[in-house]
Amino acid sequence: MKQTQRLDKILAHVGIGTRSELKRLAKEGAIYVNGVKVKDSGMQVNPETDVIKVNGEAVLYREFVYLMMNKPQGVVSATEDNRDRTVVDLLDDVYAPFEVFPVGRLDKDTEGFLLLTNDGKLAHNLLSPRKHVPKTYFAKVEWEVTESDREAFSQGVTLDDGYETLPGILKILKSGNESNGEFSEIELTIMEGKFHQVKRMFQAVGKRVSYLKRISMGPLVLDPNLELGQARELTKEELLALQHAHTTLEG
Ligand code: URA
Repeated sequence: MKQTQRLDKILAHVGIGTRSELKRLAKEGAIYVNGVKVKDSGMQVNPETDVIKVNGEAVLYREFVYLMMNKPQGVVSATEDNRDRTVVDLLDDVYAPFEVFPVGRLDKDTEGFLLLTNDGKLAHNLLSPRKHVPKTYFAKVEWEVTESDREAFSQGVTLDDGYETLPGILKILKSGNESNGEFSEIELTIMEGKFHQVKRMFQAVGKRVSYLKRISMGPLVLDPNLELGQARELTKEELLALQHAHTTLEG
């Protein structure tokens, strides 16, 4: 990023106003840079080091935002949709100017961890099939999930279109019993993200997923304090871990 940029461009980027509104705000004396009243809203400033205040409030500038969402069922992992509400519709308005998008997709009926960002490079790296970023899901499965399913997944299974998956790690938390209508509960970690992959892996062993929730992606685990539909920004540590994950998982 360039070190200095036009003040009005920076403020417009974080949603404070259009260029003409910012010109007016400057004229009204509402904008300060490093404690000095701004006359020209087109002045050059360094958003990383200069302290910008509008109407007395400090402006937090950043180029990229990174959000962790607990996606609910019934919304689609997209930025726009003609029929359904999207994950972006659920975000607070303060994020609108950043134009974030979901990194990868969860099905409409899948819940859980979804990363949203406007950092195209990071998204590309995390989604690259070469990077094998692990994703862990919790699922309820009809009915009994067995050791032989665990063994099959550990070898990789053949999906309905003939695709051979990479090995997946299946942890059986509870093995349900069809005779009394009990579902199994499992965790499955996969290193790729084919369309409907978890559901189709179970289909490959003759079983049906009835509930699916992603609980982690790479080094990040879904924050248990996030209610369904809520999102929060990643902490510095989480972001660093994520950036590091895709550089070390190459292979
Ligand atoms: N696998 C699925 O089947 N669905 C998802 O949403 C994610 C992984």
